[in-house]
Amino acid sequence: MLRMEGVCKSFGGLQALKEVSFSIQEGQISGIIGPNGSGKTTLFNCITGILPLTSGSIYFQETKISGLRADTIANMGIRRTFQAGKLVPSLTVLENVMCGISRFTAADGADTFLRPPFVRSRKEGAIQNEAMEILASLGMGDAADRWASDLAWAERQFIQIVRAIVSKPRLLLLDEPASGMAARETVMVGELIKKIRDMGITVAVVSHDIKMLMEVAEWVTVLNFGEKIAEGVPERIQKDPLVLEAYLGTEE
Ligand SMILES: Nc1ncnc2c1ncn2[C@@H]1O[C@H](COP(=O)(O)OP(=O)(O)OP(=O)(O)O)[C@@H](O)[C@H]1O
Ligand SMILES: [Mg+2]
Repeated sequence: MLRMEGVCKSFGGLQALKEVSFSIQEGQISGIIGPNGSGKTTLFNCITGILPLTSGSIYFQETKISGLRADTIANMGIRRTFQAGKLVPSLTVLENVMCGISRFTAADGADTFLRPPFVRSRKEGAIQNEAMEILASLGMGDAADRWASDLAWAERQFIQIVRAIVSKPRLLLLDEPASGMAARETVMVGELIKKIRDMGITVAVVSHDIKMLMEVAEWVTVLNFGEKIAEGVPERIQKDPLVLEAYLGTEE
């Protein structure tokens, strides 16, 4: 589904990604691990077009996406969440999820100006139904009318994920979805990731929580100092001497 070929990304003299090549298989849950500063978030920033590559190419379903604008890439069906991402605190959970539907946020002159004030548009109604449906299908319907500012940290992280999938992307990139969560919540993140895959969305996850990631991912790529040092099924990665070495003294 996604193929990355010889991607390099430098920030001045710092090489955050060095000749990284890997691919994401459709329908599979891919995991990406690596110590702090190994280039995981930079990888997502390069895929989503937030950062231009220094060299190399990225293809999504055989279309070259490196060099395209971030919004173009998002509209092709690649969505993401951010490490410690935020919701809009003054909106409800449902409204935050609605923001994930680009039809909702895109300007629509006719819909906005030809409608009497205070009359909700048909378009908005449909979008609200869509957002409610996805919240309910993931067991979060009860939270719809709560203010985002009243949510606990873990709940915000969950809603951030729902906002990213409401537009039914083909590929979802999750950056540290379980950060700052307790063990029980981390298990719920793993379950949510599997549910999302079962909805037909391919998922790539970056996580410090090796236990959760090894449990959920079917294929794992390991970065260290911007280089891919290993990839394979979780059982093999857990025993890989290079991976163990990279993590020695960086117990997380
Ligand atoms: N916009 C930027 N400008 C300059 N340097 C950056 C930028 N983004 C990342 N870096 C540097 O690139 C390297 C890789 O950073 P990145 O955020 O990709 O690591 P990471 O694997 O996501 O780390 P963490 O586990 O802490 O989230 C780090 O040395 C970081 O300081
Ligand atoms: Mg990061």
